[in-house]
Amino acid sequence: MNLKNKKILLIVGGGISAYKSLDVIRLLQRKGSSVKVILTKTGKKFVTPLSISSLSKNRVFEDTFDEKSDGKMDHISLSRWADAILVLPTTANLMSKLARGAANDLATTVLLAADKEVFLIPAMNVRMWIHQATQKNFNALFSYGYKFIGPEDGEMACGEYGKGKMSSPRQIISCLEKYFRDKDFFKKKKIKAIVTTGPTKEYIDPVRFISNESSGKQGYEIALELARLGIKTTLISGPTNINYSKDIKVKKVISGKQMFNIVRKNLPTDIAVCSAAVSDFRPLTKNKEKIKKKQKFDEIKLEKNSDILEFLGKNNRYKPKLLVGFSAETENILNNSIEKMKDKFCDIIVANDVSKKGTGFNVDFNEVTIIDRKGNTHKIKKNSKKFIASIIAKKIMNSFLDIKKNLN
Ligand SMILES: Cc1cc2nc3c(=O)[nH]c(=O)nc-3n(C[C@H](O)[C@H](O)[C@H](O)COP(=O)(O)O)c2cc1C
Repeated sequence: MNLKNKKILLIVGGGISAYKSLDVIRLLQRKGSSVKVILTKTGKKFVTPLSISSLSKNRVFEDTFDEKSDGKMDHISLSRWADAILVLPTTANLMSKLARGAANDLATTVLLAADKEVFLIPAMNVRMWIHQATQKNFNALFSYGYKFIGPEDGEMACGEYGKGKMSSPRQIISCLEKYFRDKDFFKKKKIKAIVTTGPTKEYIDPVRFISNESSGKQGYEIALELARLGIKTTLISGPTNINYSKDIKVKKVISGKQMFNIVRKNLPTDIAVCSAAVSDFRPLTKNKEKIKKKQKFDEIKLEKNSDILEFLGKNNRYKPKLLVGFSAETENILNNSIEKMKDKFCDIIVANDVSKKGTGFNVDFNEVTIIDRKGNTHKIKKNSKKFIASIIAKKIMNSFLDIKKNLN
């Protein structure tokens, strides 16, 4: 059911398992999907364009500069057409090219320009798979947001045994079905999320303000991941240098007070993720003119900003079904975070050690521990904020599905 009317773009690489792509095409078609196929130059040595076009009922795409395309840019239009992209088999060579951002044939150019979920399905000899270079590429590709299916342990075509065997066509189809099942659930039920991110600026006079080092990247990546899962996501962002993607609705704010008001306007919501580093205090008054050096000025009176997480957690009328908080700590990280989760009535807390160099505020990397109400903790070692966001989004998705099951 979940693959009915889905458009799948299959990229067939040059490995011995390429023949299994024919089975995958048949299974996808039986489930009601339409399939278009890109065959790499080496892929063509393993399967013929004739077999693929006969099964997929579509012409096979091989060349970036194909004149049959009547001026249409296949490297853009193919990924825009697709609902998901599978690379099968993903050879060691394709992994290496993708990891360094190559775009020297139709397959790699489409993948670099892709705006859809890409599933890499590796298949190679065990030595090729465990080689440091391949593992480095694997980590890089993971951190770019590619999803992997397999590889599995098993006997290979070359007669050796180990990790590197391609997942079976049935395993591949079942992963894809799960992906669309979850995505369609969120879309059909019109599940909504708000994500707050970034710092806030609390002005003292027209040019001076209280703020912090938050870049907003972690919350932005979470919002993107939630949107990718089919959740209607609104990002409420303090001032950042991010070029926001069109895939999410963004509401820009400056101060904590504005952020609080916009959050309130966006209620009710099914999911709320509070990752913004809202300034706890704001100046009681903002000087109309720039304060001069000569002026007597020896104190700034402060008042508290509203605590958005607490407001949502204690809100009888509008408490989100799933509330996720962030806890930026410099000491006693886990205990402080668990206490915060309980105090603010949230379901999940993401604990963040902001005292470490190279992770946390204003960098591209993070290291977090995800804690839930049942006491499950999941530590994610230093990795890109994109990667961390994909794990947090998955946790949000699964927890939300659990809550829904219990409510039904
Ligand atoms: C018979 C044969 C089988 C091969 N099988 C694989 C394989 O399973 N995985 C792999 O990574 N490379 C395999 N290779 C090497 C790839 O074909 C080679 O690296 C090629 O450049 C990959 O092309 P691609 O980038 O279009 O995938 C094989 C080569 C031969 C001759």
